[in-house]
Amino acid sequence: MEEVHGLGLAKSIGVSNFSCKKLENLLTLTKIPPAVNQVEMNPLWRQEKLKEFCKGKGIVITAYSTLGARETLSGPNRVMESQVLKEIAIARGKTIAQVCRRWVYEQGVTLLVKSFNEERMKENLDIFEWELSKEDLKKIDEIPQSRGLSGDFFVSDDGPFKSLAELWDGEL
Ligand SMILES: NC(=O)c1ccc[n+]([C@@H]2O[C@H](COP(=O)([O-])OP(=O)(O)OC[C@H]3O[C@@H](n4cnc5c(N)ncnc54)[C@H](OP(=O)(O)O)[C@@H]3O)[C@@H](O)[C@H]2O)c1
Repeated sequence: MEEVHGLGLAKSIGVSNFSCKKLENLLTLTKIPPAVNQVEMNPLWRQEKLKEFCKGKGIVITAYSTLGARETLSGPNRVMESQVLKEIAIARGKTIAQVCRRWVYEQGVTLLVKSFNEERMKENLDIFEWELSKEDLKKIDEIPQSRGLSGDFFVSDDGPFKSLAELWDGEL
């Protein structure tokens, strides 16, 4: 990718799902640091350590799965089903999705948003003219952490990651 960058064919280089350890390793091997690290981030997977690390290195975090993720199509989504988020949403007159998007936005990171539904597209844009209160943020900080997407499909005896601990470098 550095060669591609050198040829003027890429403006910036980005990575995805990199832990602090993987970024640290990458930074020792490369001349051009990644501009962006795209990772799961939502009120139940707050990425506090990675957020601080990236800030210190000038790497922008782009959040995906800001509404949480399901391991299987019919599996639970712990973010959208969170009672704490539901209570905050009712109190603010917003939806759980808006509370999630707003929370991510307030973390000072960029976020990906996807919908094929016109009403939900409008809903997703309505996160700028209001804010979460200190109490809301405190309640969110107290929600137990859990990664939505375990990434077990990346784990294989024949691949570079033999376990989930190796895949995420213990950031589970
Ligand atoms: N790098 C990675 O490993 C990785 C992993 C996951 C995703 N991504 C990327 O991240 C981008 C965004 O994906 P995402 O899954 O994070 O998107 P998302 O915005 O969290 O949307 C996920 C699903 O939620 C529904 N949705 C959207 N807005 C909603 C709302 N306000 N209320 C209720 N449901 C809502 C959408 O369905 P409807 O269309 O029915 O509204 C959509 O299919 C995609 O380009 C994806 O490829 C990257």
